[in-house]
Amino acid sequence: MDKLIITGGKKIDGEIVISGAKNAALPIMAAGLLASESLILSNVPHLKDVTTMMELLGLLDARLTVDENMEIHIDSASPGPHNQTPKIHAPYELVKTMRASILVLGPLLTRFGKAHVSLPGGCAIGSRPVDLHIKALQRMGANIIVENGYICCDVPGGRLHGADIYFDTVTVTGTENIIMAATLAKGTTTISNAAREPEVTDLIHCLNAMGARISGINTSTLIIEGVEKLSGTKYTVIPDRIEAGTYLIAAAITRGRIRLKKVVPSTLEAVLKALEKTGANITCGDDWIELTMSQRPKAIDIQTAPYPGFPTDMQAQIMVLNTIAEGTSTIVENIFENRFMHVQELARMGANIQLHGNTAICHGVEKLTGAPVMATDLRASAGLVLAGLIAEGKTCIERIYHIDRGYERIEEKLFQLNANINRQA
Ligand code: EPU
Repeated sequence: MDKLIITGGKKIDGEIVISGAKNAALPIMAAGLLASESLILSNVPHLKDVTTMMELLGLLDARLTVDENMEIHIDSASPGPHNQTPKIHAPYELVKTMRASILVLGPLLTRFGKAHVSLPGGCAIGSRPVDLHIKALQRMGANIIVENGYICCDVPGGRLHGADIYFDTVTVTGTENIIMAATLAKGTTTISNAAREPEVTDLIHCLNAMGARISGINTSTLIIEGVEKLSGTKYTVIPDRIEAGTYLIAAAITRGRIRLKKVVPSTLEAVLKALEKTGANITCGDDWIELTMSQRPKAIDIQTAPYPGFPTDMQAQIMVLNTIAEGTSTIVENIFENRFMHVQELARMGANIQLHGNTAICHGVEKLTGAPVMATDLRASAGLVLAGLIAEGKTCIERIYHIDRGYERIEEKLFQLNANINRQA
């Protein structure tokens, strides 16, 4: 199994291009199941999760090709009257490796009137049920039972109907699933307390380009008027704000300088504000961000929240900044109940963090020291990479397949930024 070896102490210095957003690419790829013509996507990052989604869509009878411009064509041909029955089975073997597989549930059900999708099962960051997806689809007319670990659904009459959906908790993939289901439902669906993450907005833009009728974009109330069919389109996935934020923190903690190209600064507002408070100097243009840091960062209190609040997907990374910052800080994780797996690994590198339920109290120390550590989930692993960049000596991070799920060529990008990092098989 691959490992990352980092020798800490070098300042980040340079510029990189930010990749397409994983969490926008995955739902948009699933939306390919809604159209009978080709959906052509560019700026899709080359990541393990993207490959998994391609494999899943292939099992669901979509034809996928990648052209010479690295554009992905997704063609989910309509089953004709005498065609074989559509493939609607998303197997446990794939779903267990990537929870985002649940995103095929809404498209399958609305397009084919049935779906058979594995329940995702356990997860390293919290219990992560999908009850809200299921309840909303039931309100839209689906019969759903959970049997033998699978969500088994069909729609009497074959077509979902519009409904008023209220989500008790803001759910990103839940909102995405219901938006997709509603595009082909009969009548109008209203989603209240919808997620407003930029990745949700990106999916909506793509669906509207395919002929969907979705309004309320960027608000927590979405109105979707169902249409008879969706066509193909060409769409460019937005840049990854979490990848961008992770590299900004790399520069901030090493007291370095970075310029990110191909980013959307407005999607990073909460992160940029937090970094400014730690003492970073930040300037932005339309599609670039530059950060320089010349002093030891000041500790910052953080509470994670749905967008536009501070993202849970940046919690581990900002915690690393706090471990070596001047002062004591409090980090409250409000989205997932178990997203502190990195704390024990950071403690092995000399961090002083106390955990009380969903709150971490970090007492900034002068330095971390390199150690062998274990990646436990995607963002926790990104945090360990950041810790390795500032630790004295060598840090060896094992189980980095977690990182490969969400960061495109991380060691190449960091090497380009002057870090001492390499991958060992
Ligand atoms: N929740 C329920 N029931 C549901 C759905 C969600 O109780 O039916 C709860 C969850 O357990 C959690 C909260 O609602 O406590 C929010 O979860 P959400 O559904 O928003 O998370 P998700 O859609 O499964 C997406 C991202 C995550 C990101 C979260 C929060 C994708 C593919 N995944 O997950 O990304 O952390 O939203 O922003 O978009 C990552 O990229 O590392 C990652 C984990």
